[in-house]
Amino acid sequence: MDRLIIKGGRRLEGKINISGSKNATLPLMAATLLCPDTHRLTNVPDLRDVHTMGNLLATLGAEYSLKDSVLEINTSSLKEFKAPYELVRTMRASVLVLGPLIARYGMAEVSLPGGCAIGARPINLHLEGLQKMGVEITLEFGYVKAKAKRLQGTDIYLDIPTVTGTENLMMAATLAKGTTRIENAAKEPEVVNLAEALNRMGARIKGAGTDLIEIEGVEELRPLAHTVIPDRIEAATYITAVAITRGEALIEGVKPEHLEAVIAKLRETGVEIKTEKDKIFVRADDRPRASNIKTMPYPGFPTDMQAQFMALMSVAEGTSIIRETIFENRFMHVAELRRMGADIIVEGSTATVRGKEKLKGAPLMATDLRASASLVIAALVAEGETIVDRVYHLDRGYEKIEEKLRAVGADIERVRI
Ligand code: EPU
Repeated sequence: MDRLIIKGGRRLEGKINISGSKNATLPLMAATLLCPDTHRLTNVPDLRDVHTMGNLLATLGAEYSLKDSVLEINTSSLKEFKAPYELVRTMRASVLVLGPLIARYGMAEVSLPGGCAIGARPINLHLEGLQKMGVEITLEFGYVKAKAKRLQGTDIYLDIPTVTGTENLMMAATLAKGTTRIENAAKEPEVVNLAEALNRMGARIKGAGTDLIEIEGVEELRPLAHTVIPDRIEAATYITAVAITRGEALIEGVKPEHLEAVIAKLRETGVEIKTEKDKIFVRADDRPRASNIKTMPYPGFPTDMQAQFMALMSVAEGTSIIRETIFENRFMHVAELRRMGADIIVEGSTATVRGKEKLKGAPLMATDLRASASLVIAALVAEGETIVDRVYHLDRGYEKIEEKLRAVGADIERVRI
């Protein structure tokens, strides 16, 4: 198992290049199941979750290879239609194979994911949407068993604008008979990226990025050839890291328009941010000012940045109120930040953070991906040494994090224990 050792107090300075988006890559990989052929994705990050999805596709009979950010997947001879518990347990996004499999092959078996470190995270909306499209669903021994002839286009209203739910249903609807309308759809850039890729495969999708997505089913799709959008959460994480060290950096290979809420909030804290077409310049000279956030579906402040923003607020001047409205248990980083001296009180879905002038290094345990990123950010300003254990959480979603941070001056080292 790896751990990170970080010595705080270094000002970050330089350039950071952003990788392709994890949460855009995973549904695109699942989409390759819609067409038995060879597919090609570029700007793909080399992450543990990408390999987990690759392994899942391999258990279905596909082949994949990832080299120099190019991912090739051959889905021409599938032999299995089952996503096993062992894989779904380690990555919930595995459920994304359900829609494509049932649409293309009329059968699929996917283990129910169960709870995880950030909340219960049911998939009822995925299943109800598929049922409305004519899929027969039964639950057997912890597995969702889905069967259907050709799916039927229908109107689906999502009670919550679920991201992977929207993606699953949109993929399933591409091959359905007739038109499917998904109302209260998720508007995240990753959903838009998937819709654009599917349209290039020959799908007919309109409205992605708005509340209403309309999909006119087609008979078949062509192979996927697409470039993954930049990872907005990775970019926002590094911007926050630079800000906490009162550093100065150019974040390259980003889409600033995907980061409007985060940029607005960071500016409120006093961070200077200038944007260009695919670059963000960030600079912070002073201690940040406190600012309140409430996580919301896109274009609101992303839940995937809540923990990192809290790390910044833990050294801010003043008190900030942080409300988490997407997941019910996404404050696992609080106890660890407290071990560094942060003053944070949690009541239900609200955290009150009273900024401290200094944090102190400590041995810490990462609990989930974004919580781990917040600990690394806090460690960059903490006095002395911080040890972050269970780095495998970070490796799920941050490509070469210690290399990227070291290149801008951080004192960070990975050791194998
Ligand atoms: N929900 C339901 N029923 C459903 C589906 C969702 O009640 O059928 C609830 C969830 O429990 C949650 C809320 O709806 O309270 C929103 O969850 P959503 O389904 O949108 O989340 P997700 O699709 O499982 C994706 C990202 C997450 C990100 C969330 C929210 C991927 C692969 N994952 O998850 O990313 O936090 O959207 O933006 O796209 C991460 O990268 O660290 C991460 C957790």
